Amino acid sequence: MTPSHIAFIMDGNGRWAERRHLPRKYGHKMGTEALERTVEAAAECGIKTVTFYAFSTENWSRPQSEIDYLMDTFRKFLARKNDYQEKNYRLVFIGNLGKLPQDIADSCRDAMARTESNTGLTVVIAMNYGSWEEITSAVNQLLAQGKTQVTEQDIVRALYTSTVSFPDLVVRTGGEIRLSNFLLLQSAYSELLFTDTLWPDFDKKELKKVIEIYSKRVRKFGGLGGDHVEA
Ligand code: IPE
Ligand code: IPE
Ligand code: MG
Repeated sequence: MTPSHIAFIMDGNGRWAERRHLPRKYGHKMGTEALERTVEAAAECGIKTVTFYAFSTENWSRPQSEIDYLMDTFRKFLARKNDYQEKNYRLVFIGNLGKLPQDIADSCRDAMARTESNTGLTVVIAMNYGSWEEITSAVNQLLAQGKTQVTEQDIVRALYTSTVSFPDLVVRTGGEIRLSNFLLLQSAYSELLFTDTLWPDFDKKELKKVIEIYSKRVRKFGGLGGDHVEA
């Protein structure tokens, strides 16, 4: 089966550039192109939701020049939000937007409001996102509402992902085998896939490969899975 929601940890931009003796920022530039390619490929493959990890709460520890370049990349991406509107895509930003430069935060909120009722592909961008920050913010939100007891549903509603399904598949490019603080609760039962492909090389062919691998996985959710027949 085709996954309904794929979440990508877009890793390997820097190494892609370093291998070509180019500045790391060139890898981020090519990484943005890979994101745009993947959005279109996902829509063509019938996927309903794609999530991209663009900047983590830990990425602030990078050199300021790289952070500045990434912020400019986000500005350029946001400048094209009308294309998303025209394509009927819904844009959702997850993460602590308040800590981003004001113009980026405003632009993210504007893009979300404008595309909120679109019915095509949902494109989720995780920006200044970290699961620990998300869960801390959710707990504080629930405390502020005066809650002394919470249900699982209260927590789901207080997460940044409240309007989005949980990922069926989490793909990390770049060869590292870790989640780096990404959707830790939401991926509790996701299939995980790690590929050595560096993010700037990701394309429709790679997407089809991951969909093919996913389609052979048996999801059990604690049960016995698919077509198990009682003996
Ligand atoms: C991922 O690529 C993009 C961001 C974290 C913003 P990296 O920049 O981490 O690339 P590598 O891991 O150094 O190759
Ligand atoms: C994860 O990549 C964050 C994003 C893809 C935005 P990193 O390159 O920052 O992760 P670590 O530090 O290697 O775990
Ligand atoms: Mg990395």
